[in-house]
Amino acid sequence: MVRKWLVTGCSSGLGRALAVAAARAGDDVAITARDTAALSELVSAWPERVFPIPLELRDAAQCEEAVRAAAGQLGGIDVLVNNAGAGLFGAVEEVSDAEVRDQLETLVVGPWRLIRLVLPLMRARGRGHIVNVSSVAGRMTFPGLGAYVAGKHALEGMSRTLAVEVASQGIRVTVLEPGGFSTRYGTSLAESGRRMPEYTAVTAETLAGTRGMADNPGIGRPEDFAARLFDIVRADGPTPLCVPIGDDAYAYLEAVEQALREELTAARALTQGRSPSPATAP
Ligand SMILES: NC(=O)c1ccc[n+]([C@@H]2O[C@H](COP(=O)([O-])OP(=O)(O)OC[C@H]3O[C@@H](n4cnc5c(N)ncnc54)[C@H](OP(=O)(O)O)[C@@H]3O)[C@@H](O)[C@H]2O)c1
Repeated sequence: MVRKWLVTGCSSGLGRALAVAAARAGDDVAITARDTAALSELVSAWPERVFPIPLELRDAAQCEEAVRAAAGQLGGIDVLVNNAGAGLFGAVEEVSDAEVRDQLETLVVGPWRLIRLVLPLMRARGRGHIVNVSSVAGRMTFPGLGAYVAGKHALEGMSRTLAVEVASQGIRVTVLEPGGFSTRYGTSLAESGRRMPEYTAVTAETLAGTRGMADNPGIGRPEDFAARLFDIVRADGPTPLCVPIGDDAYAYLEAVEQALREELTAARALTQGRSPSPATAP
């Protein structure tokens, strides 16, 4: 079966690797970038199967036009991959209202818009798969990435809700949580306009680690991410809603689960334990 994909953010990194994998598999793929010139190599390689579409996620009219163009060129959309994204570096106190809004517009509002636009098309065909690319940051935190972490947590919360709401319509939802992958993510990380010396030390490791990702030979390859995504899309039976991608992602998230269990136990002891509360203590 030839699948029809709409994949955002294909100028580089994970989206580009996914576009290559889909085209190689003989599928039809609508691929987006803010500047479609960055897609010309892919289009030249597979002119019959790869359709370039301009898309800035923060532009509502362009989101509408992108879905209309993709559905028209492909004759329907089987899989939407909300992959495009970029990070903002800055401690919570440093980041301005405008910077937070901008980050959430890219990580949450834009993908949400695309989902709203593709759902009627998927519902009409009685099937569809929405894949939202989150991050381990969708379930954990990194000091200096509060706005990005908030965006990925929001994307995951929305996805969990959506999955329940659309299950009876034949529409599947998957959240991918990559660990570190060698892409442009680290180099295109924007920095907040306000930097405070109080936060230099606590955020230094995050900044150095993120900036160094592209040159780190020990982290994941985008081709492997694309292969795992394919496994999930092709799977016949039910698949987990949230899927960590990469050994580092499993290590991070297992540590998070453990810490959450300990926190819950400590909270229960505090709120339901035997020690008298100050209000009732003699
Ligand atoms: N690499 C990792 O280690 C890692 C880990 C966890 C999660 N992720 C997530 O994986 C996804 C893909 O990132 P990547 O690692 O492949 O990074 P990347 O190489 O920088 O690719 C990001 C893509 O998103 C596009 N994009 C960014 N902001 C956009 C906007 N406002 N509107 C439309 N397109 C936009 C970029 O397009 P332009 O060319 O126009 O900038 C580019 O095509 C992101 O959601 C990221 O948060 C990555």
